[in-house]
Amino acid sequence: MTNPDLRISDNSWVRGAVDHALAPVYQAHTATLRGIVRQRLVTRALRAYLPGPPGRVLDVGGGDGTQAIALARVGYQVTICDPDPDMLGEAEKNLLGETDAIRDRVTLVLGDGHDAAQLAGTGWDATLCHGVLMYLPDPAPLLTILAAITRTGGTISVIGKNANALALRAGLQKRWHDAITLLDEESRATTTEIGNLGVPSRGDDPHRIQDLLTAAGTEPVAWHGIRVFTDHLGDTPPGPDLDTVLDAEWTAGSRDPYRQIARLYHLIHTRRP
Ligand SMILES: C[S@@+](CC[C@H](N)C(=O)[O-])C[C@H]1O[C@@H](n2cnc3c(N)ncnc32)[C@H](O)[C@@H]1O
Repeated sequence: MTNPDLRISDNSWVRGAVDHALAPVYQAHTATLRGIVRQRLVTRALRAYLPGPPGRVLDVGGGDGTQAIALARVGYQVTICDPDPDMLGEAEKNLLGETDAIRDRVTLVLGDGHDAAQLAGTGWDATLCHGVLMYLPDPAPLLTILAAITRTGGTISVIGKNANALALRAGLQKRWHDAITLLDEESRATTTEIGNLGVPSRGDDPHRIQDLLTAAGTEPVAWHGIRVFTDHLGDTPPGPDLDTVLDAEWTAGSRDPYRQIARLYHLIHTRRP
């Protein structure tokens, strides 16, 4: 955290199982075809569903700033609230490659998402929570907070691991014993496994997350699936057909039955009055 241009709150305390070794592993994953597909599909969905720029966006667990920077480039003011100083350090590094105007639109706040109201304030035009719920023992408290700090009519964007489709990756990779075990696990509402980042993470039934968000005062707008066709490809790098892969993933992930077997669910909700 050496760049004086960045506003970083040091008012931090961490709740839940944050793995501070995540940052380097996540950077490596982000450069693979799977990582790129994930981030590009998310950027596309945010452009489709967020209220237009300029607007204030809070990215809870925003990590290395990939989505925050994409949004700041098109005019949003974005705050990342994340308890891992290494992830915020990656965000800071990534911001160094941007113009002063874009950097000025991004604020980094070190702290737990459960404390977002106190650390970052309320009344956000949009709140994002991508790839965080799977590391928390219980998703409900953070979902309630996301709804509470989003303004009426604002957008809530949540991404997590789809507990109903865990066996697909193992099966397509011909790990048959793993596939059978995971098919058995899928019968439970929540399942913990070692994901591609090498740390335990839990899958949730997207319908349960929708219900929790709705109970917290929001309405569902959309459900996209992320990574239907590419999730089993390990560390394969992107190829020259990346744009076509993205179109295929976007089209499949926007409809049933494909979105239901995608590795990740992406839920968009709006805050009710
Ligand atoms: C897999 S990364 C996802 C980063 C980014 N949102 C993305 O989608 O690329 C998970 C992030 O969640 C953060 N995190 C973990 N527990 C958290 C909590 N209780 N509140 C806020 N962020 C948390 C981690 O520090 C990490 O940056």
